[in-house]
Amino acid sequence: MTSSEAAPTARSRVPFVTVPLRPRFFQASAYFPMPIVLLATRGPDGATNLAPYSLCFPHVRDEGHFMVLVTRSASKTATNLARSGRVSINFIPDKAEYLDNARLLSAALPTADKMAQSVFSCLPSELAPGRDGSAAPPLVAEAIQVFECKLVEASANADEQRFLLEVEAIRMQPYWARVLESGRPGPRLPVDYGFRRATASWMTRPRVVASGPRLRPRFTLAVERTPEAVLEDFREALARSDAEVIGKVRGAVIQLAMPRAQTTTWSPTIDLSVEAAPHGATIYGRIGPQPQVWTTFMFFHLVIAMLGIGGLMWGLGQALSGGSAWPVWIAVAALPLHAFVAGAAFIGQGLGAEQTHRLRSFVDDVLGA
Ligand SMILES: Cc1cc2nc3c(=O)[nH]c(=O)nc-3n(C[C@H](O)[C@H](O)[C@H](O)COP(=O)(O)O)c2cc1C
Repeated sequence: MTSSEAAPTARSRVPFVTVPLRPRFFQASAYFPMPIVLLATRGPDGATNLAPYSLCFPHVRDEGHFMVLVTRSASKTATNLARSGRVSINFIPDKAEYLDNARLLSAALPTADKMAQSVFSCLPSELAPGRDGSAAPPLVAEAIQVFECKLVEASANADEQRFLLEVEAIRMQPYWARVLESGRPGPRLPVDYGFRRATASWMTRPRVVASGPRLRPRFTLAVERTPEAVLEDFREALARSDAEVIGKVRGAVIQLAMPRAQTTTWSPTIDLSVEAAPHGATIYGRIGPQPQVWTTFMFFHLVIAMLGIGGLMWGLGQALSGGSAWPVWIAVAALPLHAFVAGAAFIGQGLGAEQTHRLRSFVDDVLGA
C-alpha cells in the first residue's frame, strides 16, 4: 500500500459520486470559481456600455499576455468589441452594492437605459482610439484593477462568441499596487460559480464565522505579524480615503464602526484587542451593538429583573404572613418580557447582518485572515 492509499478511515470511506460531464462542464457539472468583472466597451455612438461577465480567463502562451472571453452572440459587449477591437476588464471589489448593481447592468436593455442605473463612474483611458475611431473604453474608477485589452482573434457558433484578447496595460489602484509588490494579502474580489440567469448567478460571499453568545459573538484570529505591525496595518487601512469603515486605534485596542451616514439603531461595532503571541499576534474580537444600544438593552433587562425579583419577594412575604401571593405573578410576567427584549435584540442583529459582514470583511482584509 502506498502512502497515498492509506488505510480507510471513517472519513475516507465516504465515497465520491461521479457527476456526468455535461456541456459546459465547469458550470453544469462542477463548482468552478470564476471572476465577476465589468466589461466596458463603446457603442457606435461612443457611449460607454458596462456589463458583468464571468467567462473571462487568462490564456497562457509563450509570447504576450492574453485573456479569453466568452459571450452570448446577442451581447452588446461582443458587438462593440468586434467593431472597435477594444475592451477594458474592470475587477470591482466584493461589495454588496456593486454586485447588486452588476446584476442590474446584466439586464438585456439598451445601453442608455442600463447605464442610467449604473453606480459606477468612469475615467478616460490613455490608450489610442479603437479601430473604428472610437475612444478606448474607459476605466471603472471603483475597480481594484483594470486590464485594457485589444482584440486578437474572434470566433463564433450559433449561440456564443469567443474572443482572444491581448492585455495591453494593467492599471491598479496605488494602494493595491503597493500591496502586490510587498507580497501582502490582496483585495477581496467577488467570485461566482457561473452565470445562469440574471437572478441566479451563484455568487460566493465569505461567511462570518464567530463563536460565543450570539448577542455579542466573539472570534479569535492569529497572524504571523507583531502586534505593532497589526496596529499599524489598521491605522493605514482606516486612513484610506475609500475605507468603508471608521474606527480608532487606542493602545492595543481597535474600535471599528460603520460610517455615521450609514449608522442605524441596529448597526454593529467590532472591538479588537491585539496581544503578542509566540507566532506573532493574537487578535481577540467582539461583535456587538453600539454602546448606547447595548446599555439600553441591559437597562431594560435590569429593570425587568428587578421587577421580577421584587414581585417574587413581595409575593413570598405576603404568602408567609397569610396574605395573597398575587405579586408572584409579576415575577412570572417578567420571563416573557425578558424573552421579548432578547427577541428584539436578535431581530436587530439580523437587520445589521450585512453591516456585520462588512465590518468583519474589513478585519479579514487588513489581517489577510
Ligand atoms: C455575475 C454575472 C456574470 C455573467 N457572466 C456572463 C458571461 O460570462 N458570458 C455572458 O455571455 N453573459 C454573462 N452574463 C450575462 C450578461 O451580463 C448579460 O447577458 C448582459 O445582458 C450582457 O450585456 P451587454 O449586452 O451589454 O453585453 C453574466 C451576468 C452576471 C450577473
